[in-house]
Amino acid sequence: MRVHIVTYGCQMNEYDTHLVASELVSLGAQMVNTIEDADFVLVNTCAVRGKPVEKVKSLLGKLKKEKERRGLRIGMMGCLAQLEEGQEIAKRFDVDVLLGPGALTQIEKALAADSKFWDLAFHEELNRVVAPPPAGALSAYVPIIRGCNHRCTYCVVPRTRGGVEVSRPPELILEEIERLKAAGVVEVTLLGQNVNSYGNDRPEYPSFAELLRMVGELGIPRVRFLTSHPVNFTEDIVRAIAETPAITRYIHLPVQSGSDRILRRMAREYRRADYLRRIETIRDYLPDAVLSTDIIVGFPGETEEDFEATLSLYDEVGFDHAYMFIYSARPGTPAAEHFEDLPREVKVERLKRLIEKQKAWSLEKNRAWVGKEVEVLIRGDAKETGFAEGHDRGNHPVLVPGDQAPRPGLYRVRITEASPHLLFGEVTEVLHAPAPREAVA
Ligand code: 5AD
Ligand code: SF4
Repeated sequence: MRVHIVTYGCQMNEYDTHLVASELVSLGAQMVNTIEDADFVLVNTCAVRGKPVEKVKSLLGKLKKEKERRGLRIGMMGCLAQLEEGQEIAKRFDVDVLLGPGALTQIEKALAADSKFWDLAFHEELNRVVAPPPAGALSAYVPIIRGCNHRCTYCVVPRTRGGVEVSRPPELILEEIERLKAAGVVEVTLLGQNVNSYGNDRPEYPSFAELLRMVGELGIPRVRFLTSHPVNFTEDIVRAIAETPAITRYIHLPVQSGSDRILRRMAREYRRADYLRRIETIRDYLPDAVLSTDIIVGFPGETEEDFEATLSLYDEVGFDHAYMFIYSARPGTPAAEHFEDLPREVKVERLKRLIEKQKAWSLEKNRAWVGKEVEVLIRGDAKETGFAEGHDRGNHPVLVPGDQAPRPGLYRVRITEASPHLLFGEVTEVLHAPAPREAVA
């Protein structure tokens, strides 16, 4: 069987694709790079906003035609698969295999079934699978917790990935990271909808702060984590980062809004002042931390005054970067059911203003790096532009002349120029650029 997987959405989805692909390969399947070459196409979906759902629908439309033309099995996994919205879409586009985000371990059964196979249960064994290292990669994701105990009123994730946090056994996390290290990986990103809550469901497990210290001892040069919740980002975590050199000083702490009225409507469980106190703690321990956030503009009921509170919070923190989203009403969420959506023009206009703010701050923050040396992880070969791309320990995208970084690896780079979105630099030292390995799987 020849399988192609198309992945939308977040890093957790990217990891899940890797997990399912490894499982399929171990069952004898061959992974192929195009839909045309495949006889089983699996779509790993995202449901967090309306846009990714539209993308999934248009791909499934194309696949359905292909299926009618030449016979093809279509599979759907990921967050959309778990929602009624997604199951209706699956019926409409004649999807054969549907696996919710908790049912990935059922792929073998799904393939063996001779009619349609749907599984939406959460199988605890998912957290006990140890995935093989991705072939040839220098950077890899490692999930540490699945599900989310919070109930933000705009968010589908508690319904798609589970409304109860389930931590993965620490010995399996450490084993997976040891294997990655042995395979040459130099950067791991610990993943979860809310990594800060790690271990809260299991008194015998380490806390997130303790886990960070344990992972930091394994000898992987860079350890990162995504994503955090301001309520759970406690001082012991900040201290663990400060005292563990391998952990990068890049902190992504979604704020969503700077207005207390809106934070309350979002059920974010903290207020503006609480968030600012967290930032203060971070700056106390980690004065060089690079800070980014997520912001939703145009949440139902957001007034001009509320939006200005978000802009002023941005100035107060001075974020290095922000991921900005227009509010998207998701079927079945409390916000979509109880509140009225704002007019599109209002949301678009506010997003534009926020982007201006973000660009100005990012340019100022990025300029401060000019003349300094950073460690850059170059991920691939140089592009047609002649530049090789990578990111530093602060997660800034960095470009260097391709001939100076001929292979993926870690390079010391002196920053020579900055734009709002990019840093440019010259390689001053090759730190670690191994010859390419034979692909394993
Ligand atoms: N509309 C817009 N943005 C959303 N996000 C989550 N749900 C929605 C929604 N319904 C954003 C949040 C979150 C990020 C992953 O996506 O900012 O932090
Ligand atoms: Fe990831 Fe959230 Fe999208 Fe699910 S809905 S794929 S958890 S971003």
